[in-house]
Parts: sequence; C-alpha cells; structure tokens
Amino acid sequence: MLKTEILKILREKSDYVSGQELCDAFGVSRTAVWKAVNSLKNDGFMIDSVTNRGYRLQETPDVLTKSELESRLNTRWLGREFVCFDEIDSTNTELKRMAAANPNLKSGVLAVTDNQVAGRGRRGRAWTAPAGVNVAMSFLLKPGFAPDRASMLTIIAALAVVRGVEEIAIRAREDVRCSIKWPNDVLLNNKKLCGILTEMSSELDFIHYVIVGIGINVNIEEFPDDIKETATSISLECGQKISRASLVDAVLRAFEELYDIFVGTCDLSGLMEEYNSRLASMNVPVRVLDPKGEFTGISRGINSEGELIVDRDDGTTELVYAGEVSVRGIYGYV
Ligand code: BTN
Repeated sequence: MLKTEILKILREKSDYVSGQELCDAFGVSRTAVWKAVNSLKNDGFMIDSVTNRGYRLQETPDVLTKSELESRLNTRWLGREFVCFDEIDSTNTELKRMAAANPNLKSGVLAVTDNQVAGRGRRGRAWTAPAGVNVAMSFLLKPGFAPDRASMLTIIAALAVVRGVEEIAIRAREDVRCSIKWPNDVLLNNKKLCGILTEMSSELDFIHYVIVGIGINVNIEEFPDDIKETATSISLECGQKISRASLVDAVLRAFEELYDIFVGTCDLSGLMEEYNSRLASMNVPVRVLDPKGEFTGISRGINSEGELIVDRDDGTTELVYAGEVSVRGIYGYV
C-alpha cells in the first residue's frame, strides 16, 4: 500500500522528503503521492507539506490504522495478512466468521480493532474497553498438533505479551517488569494489564483452527468501578503513552519466537522456566477455586503440560488444569 510505504520513508528520514523522491521510489504520479499524504493526514498523522521541500512527518499519533500497523509489522508469518477495523464487535468473533466463510483462510491471519464494542472474556464474561486506547487483537492458527496441546498456546501468548510489553514499555520506564497470574493474565505491578481468550474448533484428533485473542490495556487512564482496584494500563504504570501498533508488532514477534520453541517438542519444556520466573504466585500460598471443591496449598509453578503444581496442605500434590479452575492468592487478587 502506497500510504504504508510513504509512512515508512517519512518515519525513517526525520527531514523533508521531496514529492519527486517519493514518486521515483514507488513509480507513481505526484497526484498519487499527494492523495496518499492527505489520507495519512486524515488518519491523524501531522505531516508538514512545504513547496520545494516536500513532506515531513512531525508527529506520530497513537493510531491503529491499516497503514500504521503495516508500516510497523516486522513479523515473519504472524499477521502478514491482517484485517484492521475502526470498530467491530469482537476480533475473536470476526475471525470465527472469516474462518466459516473461507475454509482456506491462512494460518497467522490477524484481526485488530481500534474499538471493540462486544469483547468477550473468559468464562462468558465481557471484556470492555473504550475506543482508541487499547489493543484488541486476535490471530488464527491452524496447527498440525493434537487438540489437547492447544491450551498451551494460551501460556505462550501470555509470555509473548510479557516480552512484547517490556520491549516497548522499557522506552518509557526502565524498570518495567510484568508478571503472570496463572494461567494467562498478564500483570504490571500486581494489577491486570492483559487478558487472553483462546478458542478452538476441532475434531477428536484434529484442530480446524485455534483463535488466540489478546486484550491489552495500553493508554487507558480510567477504569470502571468494578475493576479499578485490580486493573491497570501501561501508560498508568509507566507515565507515558505507548504506540499500540509498535506493541502489536512486539507481541507478535515474541509469539513467533516462542511458538518455534513450543512446536519443537509440543510441550512447554522449553518455556516453563521463563514462565515460572514470571509467575506472580510462585512458592506462595494459593486458594484453588475448583468447581469440584476448593482447596489451599503452595503453588510451585507449571509443569511441561501447563498444569499448575500445588502442594496441598495435607501433604499431597495436585496438578491443576486451567479449564474452569481459578487460582487466587490467599492475601488478595494475585
Ligand atoms: C479475560 O481475561 O477474560 C480474557 C479477555 C480477552 C479479551 C480479548 S480482546 C481481543 C479478543 N476479542 C475478544 O472478544 N476477546 C479477546
């Protein structure tokens, strides 16, 4: 897309780039360049146009448009094809619709929106966010492994968010360090920063597709009363607005790297050390809220299957499988 290419050049060169240079670079007319620049301006980019000098990007706003995202994405396969919406009900639901309409939909396709109006969370809960401040994205995978491996993708996604958030947020705050509330809530300063919803369509021994949906609180400044004690955003914790498009890129690149490690063994043996080093409730007392019965014990981190190892107060060891179970710290949310 011409807009994307122009954006990349303007970002690279902080000085003016002449209209002719842009025409020559892309083999297009002056009018085409002028139209693309105007369209970028309409997207919110502040571009200075000066006769005889050309165009200069003054300020990059935090927009989540197709060209902004395209100009930031440096992934190998994840999100190489993507759809970007100003507004959509839910990016997970949209990918399901796309998969139903097109059985040949490629693995790695990404859906992103600036405003998700009917976001879905785990256990049938809603995931709400105001427009223009957060990341709501989902990607579709068509893995060759067995369906019982799919829940591990959620663990990989959590680690990818940890890596991605830290890569970007470190520019605003050097000591930023995320943690994870098992299985896949990413926390910053012990408050929830990100939720992940993984959904699968499968046969007994065959995965049609898995959709990994990630919601990150990025530049949101205020939360509704019911979650304001337990939720936070990157900008609130780091004191600076973050580019959502750069964050999407960083999280997806991290996922690619982690996924490569995972598919080597189809278990979490290569990732559990990193995951456990980020686990908020590691070697601390936890309450396991299992519909079959609640119990307490000491959390010892995950095993290579992604199950949480809990040493029960009665001396036995329990392997807790995510599903319907939720784990709380004895002393609060984490
Ligand atoms: C949770 O913590 O309950 C999971 C929240 C998952 C939210 C994300 S936002 C993008 C994707 N689309 C959805 O409708 N949900 C997920």
